[in-house]
Amino acid sequence: MDHEQLRPVLAGKKALIFGIANEDSIAYGCAKAFRLLGADLAVSWLNEKARRFVDPLAQELEASITGAVDVEVPRQLEAMFDQVRSQWGRLDILVHSIAFAPKEDLQGGLLDCSAEGFAKAMDISCHSFIRMAKHAAPLMTEGGAMFAMSYYGANRVVPNYNVMGPVKAALEAACRYLAYELGPREIRVHAISPGPLKTRAASGLKHFELMLNEAAHKAPMGELIDIMDVGFTCAYLATPFAKRMTGELIYVDGGANLIA
Ligand SMILES: NC(=O)c1ccc[n+]([C@@H]2O[C@H](COP(=O)([O-])OP(=O)(O)OC[C@H]3O[C@@H](n4cnc5c(N)ncnc54)[C@H](O)[C@@H]3O)[C@@H](O)[C@H]2O)c1
Repeated sequence: MDHEQLRPVLAGKKALIFGIANEDSIAYGCAKAFRLLGADLAVSWLNEKARRFVDPLAQELEASITGAVDVEVPRQLEAMFDQVRSQWGRLDILVHSIAFAPKEDLQGGLLDCSAEGFAKAMDISCHSFIRMAKHAAPLMTEGGAMFAMSYYGANRVVPNYNVMGPVKAALEAACRYLAYELGPREIRVHAISPGPLKTRAASGLKHFELMLNEAAHKAPMGELIDIMDVGFTCAYLATPFAKRMTGELIYVDGGANLIA
């Protein structure tokens, strides 16, 4: 796609994006697409160690708000929303693109997942989206759009996806319930389900290369997706062109989910 020809359909929109770790991150694809379409950005990094990778990207994206947010650290999420409130006074778009499960719990089968590992995976990868939505909704005074990243393993068994299957299933259900609760405020909520992408988070899955090969092989469109495909999908869903869509599960996978 020739980016020069894009019209700034998100000009004036304020977008808050959680989950950029590096330039492979799905969240970076979202941030880049929103910026190319004219939105102002707020982006977070996980901690000081992550900052040196994310800060240059935030600068390239001309992000007007930045800060550290580890959703497990008390007050950091609130502090980010405080910044948004004081600097922008409102918000239009929220992206949750974060996931985590302890390695020993992720790489064993679900039967062997500890209660602590399950709870941690669920808190970081699912409940944190509900917390974000709670903070974001009062700022979406002119309506808005919220996105959370899921995966096909939420609905069908994908070998080696393990504990993340039930966690993503909960995330998808949370999107539907939030869409129900926030619909009257013209806030739309979608779960986005990208095909496999080679990112830091994906490298924690056992035999991830097999998932990549299978996805390319299965997809009717015959190739893997990239992070900009996810970003432009979210961008479209954030525009008034999609104002009557909410609570959807949107696959961005070249059609791989259609195939048995
Ligand atoms: N890569 C894939 O194949 C794929 C496919 C479908 C869905 N997803 C989902 O997309 C989302 C983004 O993952 P990605 O593949 O871009 O990998 P990524 O490693 O680039 O992003 C994961 C992000 O989660 C953040 N994170 C982890 N623990 C956190 C915490 N406690 N607080 C705040 N942030 C935390 C990391 O800092 C990182 O930025 C995840 O929800 C993932 O499950 C990934």
